[in-house]
Amino acid sequence: MTADDLKRQAAEAAIEYVESGMIVGIGTGSTANHFIDLLAKLKGKIDGTVASSEASAARLRGHGIEVMELNNTGPLSLYVDGADESNRELHLIKGGGGALTREKIVAGASEKFICIADDSKLVDVMGSFPLPIEVIPMARSHVARELVKLDGQPVLREGFTTDNGNLILDIHGLQIMQPVHLEQTINAIAGVVTVGIFAQRPADVLILGQEGGARIIT
Ligand code: 5RP
Repeated sequence: MTADDLKRQAAEAAIEYVESGMIVGIGTGSTANHFIDLLAKLKGKIDGTVASSEASAARLRGHGIEVMELNNTGPLSLYVDGADESNRELHLIKGGGGALTREKIVAGASEKFICIADDSKLVDVMGSFPLPIEVIPMARSHVARELVKLDGQPVLREGFTTDNGNLILDIHGLQIMQPVHLEQTINAIAGVVTVGIFAQRPADVLILGQEGGARIIT
Protein backbone atom coordinates (compact mmCIF):
# COMPACT_ATOMS: atom_id res chain seq x y z
CA MET A 1 0.00 0.00 0.00
CA THR A 2 1.20 3.53 -0.70
CA ALA A 3 1.32 6.21 1.98
CA ASP A 4 -1.75 7.73 0.35
CA ASP A 5 -3.62 4.40 0.63
CA LEU A 6 -2.74 4.31 4.33
CA LYS A 7 -3.97 7.87 4.82
CA ARG A 8 -7.27 6.93 3.19
CA GLN A 9 -7.53 3.83 5.37
CA ALA A 10 -7.16 6.00 8.49
CA ALA A 11 -9.78 8.43 7.18
CA GLU A 12 -12.19 5.56 6.55
CA ALA A 13 -11.81 4.42 10.17
CA ALA A 14 -12.44 7.97 11.42
CA ILE A 15 -15.71 8.18 9.49
CA GLU A 16 -17.10 5.61 11.97
CA TYR A 17 -16.99 8.30 14.67
CA VAL A 18 -19.36 10.64 12.79
CA GLU A 19 -22.87 10.63 14.25
CA SER A 20 -26.18 12.11 13.11
CA GLY A 21 -26.66 15.79 13.90
CA MET A 22 -22.98 16.50 14.56
CA ILE A 23 -21.15 19.62 13.48
CA VAL A 24 -17.73 18.21 12.58
CA GLY A 25 -14.43 20.10 12.81
CA ILE A 26 -12.30 19.46 9.75
CA GLY A 27 -8.52 19.61 9.51
CA THR A 28 -6.19 20.39 6.65
CA GLY A 29 -3.88 18.37 4.41
CA SER A 30 -3.92 15.27 2.24
CA THR A 31 -5.21 12.95 4.99
CA ALA A 32 -7.95 15.39 6.00
CA ASN A 33 -8.84 15.66 2.30
CA HIS A 34 -9.58 11.92 2.24
CA PHE A 35 -11.83 12.42 5.25
CA ILE A 36 -13.64 15.29 3.50
CA ASP A 37 -14.21 13.18 0.40
CA LEU A 38 -15.63 10.32 2.50
CA LEU A 39 -17.75 12.74 4.54
CA ALA A 40 -19.49 13.83 1.33
CA LYS A 41 -21.45 10.56 1.42
CA LEU A 42 -22.75 11.48 4.90
CA LYS A 43 -23.60 15.11 4.22
CA GLY A 44 -27.33 14.53 4.76
CA LYS A 45 -26.62 13.07 8.19
CA ILE A 46 -24.50 15.86 9.74
CA ASP A 47 -25.58 19.40 10.59
CA GLY A 48 -22.47 20.99 9.10
CA THR A 49 -18.73 21.48 9.49
CA VAL A 50 -16.16 23.99 10.73
CA ALA A 51 -13.03 24.16 8.58
CA SER A 52 -9.49 24.80 9.79
CA SER A 53 -8.37 26.44 6.53
CA GLU A 54 -9.65 28.18 3.43
CA ALA A 55 -8.45 25.17 1.38
CA SER A 56 -10.52 22.69 3.41
CA ALA A 57 -13.53 25.04 3.36
CA ALA A 58 -13.33 25.17 -0.44
CA ARG A 59 -13.09 21.38 -0.71
CA LEU A 60 -16.05 20.92 1.65
CA ARG A 61 -18.17 23.41 -0.29
CA GLY A 62 -17.15 21.66 -3.52
CA HIS A 63 -18.90 18.57 -2.16
CA GLY A 64 -21.97 20.62 -1.16
CA ILE A 65 -21.15 20.27 2.55
CA GLU A 66 -22.12 23.23 4.71
CA VAL A 67 -19.21 25.16 6.30
CA MET A 68 -20.09 27.14 9.43
CA GLU A 69 -18.36 29.82 11.51
CA LEU A 70 -16.97 28.51 14.79
CA ASN A 71 -18.39 31.60 16.51
CA ASN A 72 -21.88 30.40 15.59
CA THR A 73 -21.65 26.72 16.52
CA GLY A 74 -20.66 26.46 20.17
CA PRO A 75 -18.39 23.56 21.17
CA LEU A 76 -17.91 20.82 18.57
CA SER A 77 -18.32 17.13 19.38
CA LEU A 78 -15.64 15.95 16.97
CA TYR A 79 -12.52 17.23 15.20
CA VAL A 80 -10.67 15.12 12.63
CA ASP A 81 -7.26 16.15 11.34
CA GLY A 82 -3.89 14.81 10.22
CA ALA A 83 -0.45 15.39 11.72
CA ASP A 84 3.19 15.55 10.73
CA GLU A 85 4.38 13.54 13.75
CA SER A 86 2.82 11.93 16.82
CA ASN A 87 4.43 10.39 19.88
CA ARG A 88 2.79 7.65 21.93
CA GLU A 89 1.18 10.16 24.29
CA LEU A 90 -0.62 11.60 21.24
CA HIS A 91 1.31 14.85 21.41
CA LEU A 92 1.57 16.07 17.83
CA ILE A 93 3.59 18.24 15.49
CA LYS A 94 1.23 19.95 13.06
CA GLY A 95 1.45 22.78 10.58
CA GLY A 96 3.14 21.19 7.58
CA GLY A 97 0.33 22.74 5.57
CA GLY A 98 0.59 26.03 7.46
CA ALA A 99 -2.89 25.84 8.98
CA LEU A 100 -1.74 25.26 12.56
CA THR A 101 -3.40 28.27 14.19
CA ARG A 102 -6.92 27.52 13.02
CA GLU A 103 -6.27 23.82 13.61
CA LYS A 104 -5.32 24.51 17.22
CA ILE A 105 -8.41 26.69 17.69
CA VAL A 106 -10.78 24.04 16.31
CA ALA A 107 -9.03 21.28 18.28
CA GLY A 108 -9.38 23.36 21.44
CA ALA A 109 -13.09 23.88 20.79
CA SER A 110 -13.76 20.16 20.26
CA GLU A 111 -14.70 17.49 22.77
CA LYS A 112 -12.97 14.70 20.83
CA PHE A 113 -9.92 15.15 18.58
CA ILE A 114 -9.22 12.25 16.27
CA CYS A 115 -5.86 12.37 14.53
CA ILE A 116 -5.55 10.38 11.30
CA ALA A 117 -2.23 9.52 9.71
CA ASP A 118 -0.20 6.87 7.95
CA ASP A 119 1.94 4.88 10.36
CA SER A 120 5.19 6.61 9.34
CA LYS A 121 4.02 9.59 11.45
CA LEU A 122 4.38 7.71 14.76
CA VAL A 123 7.76 8.52 16.36
CA ASP A 124 9.49 8.00 19.71
CA VAL A 125 10.71 11.60 19.98
CA MET A 126 9.25 14.43 17.92
CA GLY A 127 11.41 16.93 16.08
CA SER A 128 12.73 15.20 12.97
CA PHE A 129 9.91 16.97 11.15
CA PRO A 130 10.81 20.69 11.26
CA LEU A 131 8.53 22.37 13.80
CA PRO A 132 6.26 25.00 12.17
CA ILE A 133 5.68 28.27 13.99
CA GLU A 134 3.29 30.97 12.77
CA VAL A 135 4.73 34.44 13.44
CA ILE A 136 3.62 38.02 13.00
CA PRO A 137 5.68 39.34 10.04
CA MET A 138 7.43 42.19 11.95
CA ALA A 139 8.56 39.69 14.63
CA ARG A 140 10.20 37.23 12.21
CA SER A 141 13.84 38.03 13.05
CA HIS A 142 13.25 38.44 16.78
CA VAL A 143 11.43 35.09 17.02
CA ALA A 144 14.14 33.41 14.93
CA ARG A 145 16.87 34.68 17.32
CA GLU A 146 14.91 33.40 20.34
CA LEU A 147 14.57 29.98 18.71
CA VAL A 148 18.30 29.78 18.07
CA LYS A 149 18.71 30.24 21.87
CA LEU A 150 16.56 27.08 22.22
CA ASP A 151 19.01 25.22 19.92
CA GLY A 152 16.69 25.30 16.91
CA GLN A 153 17.62 26.27 13.37
CA PRO A 154 14.78 28.44 12.01
CA VAL A 155 14.11 28.54 8.27
CA LEU A 156 11.57 30.94 6.78
CA ARG A 157 8.99 29.12 4.64
CA GLU A 158 9.64 31.05 1.42
CA GLY A 159 6.71 32.43 -0.55
CA PHE A 160 4.12 31.28 1.99
CA THR A 161 1.52 33.39 3.83
CA THR A 162 -0.96 31.81 6.23
CA ASP A 163 -4.73 32.27 6.02
CA ASN A 164 -4.23 34.82 8.81
CA GLY A 165 -1.70 36.90 6.85
CA ASN A 166 1.35 35.73 8.81
CA LEU A 167 4.63 33.88 8.14
CA ILE A 168 5.85 30.39 9.01
CA LEU A 169 9.26 29.61 10.50
CA ASP A 170 10.16 25.90 10.27
CA ILE A 171 12.52 24.94 13.10
CA HIS A 172 15.05 22.24 12.27
CA GLY A 173 17.28 20.27 14.61
CA LEU A 174 15.00 19.93 17.65
CA GLN A 175 14.60 16.83 19.78
CA ILE A 176 11.38 17.51 21.66
CA MET A 177 11.79 15.68 24.96
CA GLN A 178 9.24 17.77 26.88
CA PRO A 179 6.48 18.74 24.43
CA VAL A 180 4.18 20.51 26.92
CA HIS A 181 7.03 22.62 28.32
CA LEU A 182 8.40 23.53 24.87
CA GLU A 183 4.91 24.44 23.64
CA GLN A 184 4.51 26.84 26.57
CA THR A 185 8.02 28.27 26.16
CA ILE A 186 7.67 29.01 22.44
CA ASN A 187 4.14 30.36 22.84
CA ALA A 188 5.54 32.89 25.33
CA ILE A 189 7.89 34.50 22.76
CA ALA A 190 6.48 37.87 21.67
CA GLY A 191 5.40 37.69 18.05
CA VAL A 192 4.62 33.97 18.04
CA VAL A 193 1.02 33.39 17.02
CA THR A 194 1.03 29.60 17.36
CA VAL A 195 3.61 26.85 17.72
CA GLY A 196 2.86 23.58 15.93
CA ILE A 197 3.27 21.44 19.06
CA PHE A 198 -0.15 20.11 20.06
CA ALA A 199 0.62 18.78 23.56
CA GLN A 200 -1.41 20.89 26.00
CA ARG A 201 -4.38 19.73 23.98
CA PRO A 202 -3.21 16.41 22.45
CA ALA A 203 -5.27 14.13 20.26
CA ASP A 204 -7.73 11.87 22.08
CA VAL A 205 -7.53 9.11 19.48
CA LEU A 206 -4.79 8.37 16.93
CA ILE A 207 -5.80 6.27 13.94
CA LEU A 208 -2.83 4.98 11.96
CA GLY A 209 -3.21 3.50 8.53
CA GLN A 210 -0.95 0.47 8.25
CA GLU A 211 -0.56 -2.79 6.37
CA GLY A 212 -3.18 -5.25 7.64
CA GLY A 213 -5.69 -2.64 8.83
CA ALA A 214 -5.99 0.60 10.77
CA ARG A 215 -4.53 0.72 14.28
CA ILE A 216 -6.30 2.79 16.91
CA ILE A 217 -4.35 4.27 19.85
CA THR A 218 -6.11 6.07 22.68
C1 5RP B 1 -1.62 21.09 8.10
C2 5RP B 1 -1.33 19.94 8.99
C3 5RP B 1 -1.49 18.58 8.42
O1 5RP B 1 -2.39 17.88 9.22
C4 5RP B 1 -0.17 17.89 8.39
O2 5RP B 1 0.77 18.68 7.68
C5 5RP B 1 -0.27 16.50 7.77
O3 5RP B 1 -0.52 16.62 6.40
P1 5RP B 1 -0.82 15.37 5.48
O4 5RP B 1 -2.14 14.81 5.92
O5 5RP B 1 -0.86 15.95 4.09
O6 5RP B 1 0.31 14.38 5.66
O7 5RP B 1 -0.98 20.07 10.14
O8 5RP B 1 -1.30 22.31 8.71
